[in-house]
Amino acid sequence: MFANLPAAKDDPILSIGMLFNADSREHKIDLGVGVYRNEQGQTPVMQAVTQAQQNLLASQTTQAYIGLAGNAEFNQAMLDLLLSNTAGYSRAIAMQTPGASGALRLLADLIASAKPQAKVWLSTPSYVNHQPIMEAAGLSVDFYPYFNPETKQVDEAAMLEQIAKLGPDDVVLLHGCCHNPTGADISLEAWQQITELALKNGFLPFVDLAYQGFGQGIDEDIAGLRYMADKLPELLLSCSNSKSFGLYRERCGAAIVIGETLKQANNARAKLFELARRSYTMPPNWGAAIVAEVLGNAQLTQLWQDELNQMSQRMRSLRQALVDEFTQQSSSERFNYLVQHQGMFSLTGFSQQQTEQLREQHAIYVVGGGRINIAGMAQQDIPRIVEACLAVGA
Ligand code: LMR
Repeated sequence: MFANLPAAKDDPILSIGMLFNADSREHKIDLGVGVYRNEQGQTPVMQAVTQAQQNLLASQTTQAYIGLAGNAEFNQAMLDLLLSNTAGYSRAIAMQTPGASGALRLLADLIASAKPQAKVWLSTPSYVNHQPIMEAAGLSVDFYPYFNPETKQVDEAAMLEQIAKLGPDDVVLLHGCCHNPTGADISLEAWQQITELALKNGFLPFVDLAYQGFGQGIDEDIAGLRYMADKLPELLLSCSNSKSFGLYRERCGAAIVIGETLKQANNARAKLFELARRSYTMPPNWGAAIVAEVLGNAQLTQLWQDELNQMSQRMRSLRQALVDEFTQQSSSERFNYLVQHQGMFSLTGFSQQQTEQLREQHAIYVVGGGRINIAGMAQQDIPRIVEACLAVGA
């Protein structure tokens, strides 16, 4: 059966983690996979999550099947959190999925069922798993200009010029906030202009939201998404609770569809049920139950928001400390872009040779293309990280 199995492709992010784990050097630093860590290098369980788990264990009465849509309270809580008071809210459905990857795949399958000839447009560059997921669903993929490697910011003019050429057979995948891998987000004006273009030319925006609260704040980070949900007849949304609730291993996410009418959204939901049934059937409940418990309890919601704010504050402090150290060690301001980026990632543009040298000579692990996870570093390591980056010619 497997004698002629083609060799599997290494995942560019997860393979870095495997190399890191196999490295016996004690001073190694992991700036690879997107995981938040505190100053002690731990990814803590949020207190709001711990309390929610205690509440759930105390009140749990059954572990029976829960249904194809997953946890109903979770689905409603996600709609409330993301879309309340937008015009699209009353025409939206949510379905719990195994992580945002599950949502991306399910929504890609939905697009392929509705319009097999659809083409999905991704930013250059985009999250490494976007293209494989879309293509696995049978969709074709193309790229719109996004990151300017010189300025380290989004080239919004070039992006909008390409998006203005798209029509009803096109889907435009946008990062809700804290763009992965670049850290460079589009302005609210760009969200508004893309919305106008979608209304005029008929392409479908698809927002992938994985880092809510890691940028400017829980509400600020979804301003563009909410603008779209208010104005557009149709919208797709995949979202992750991995980062914002620290529930990485629970694989908790949601697929959300805004339809032209609620009836159309419900038709999409029925199709999503069919797609889920022939794949994983039902998502695991525990992560979703935790999120529903936190968002359904005012005291836990406040605690969660405070903890999330502390995490984003820490990421901003790390960015500032990094820039200060680069400025001091290099006598140059060319790293100032690091404080303009949002969330946990920044794309530095390090070459393959530089990333290999960082790994082999300095035990510092970054993703190919030079994506660094700011949230993976400790303040005390910053002088050594900067020294190593400058030593490899950054
Ligand atoms: C990342 O980009 O590092 C994370 O989203 C983890 C993943 O699944 O790739």
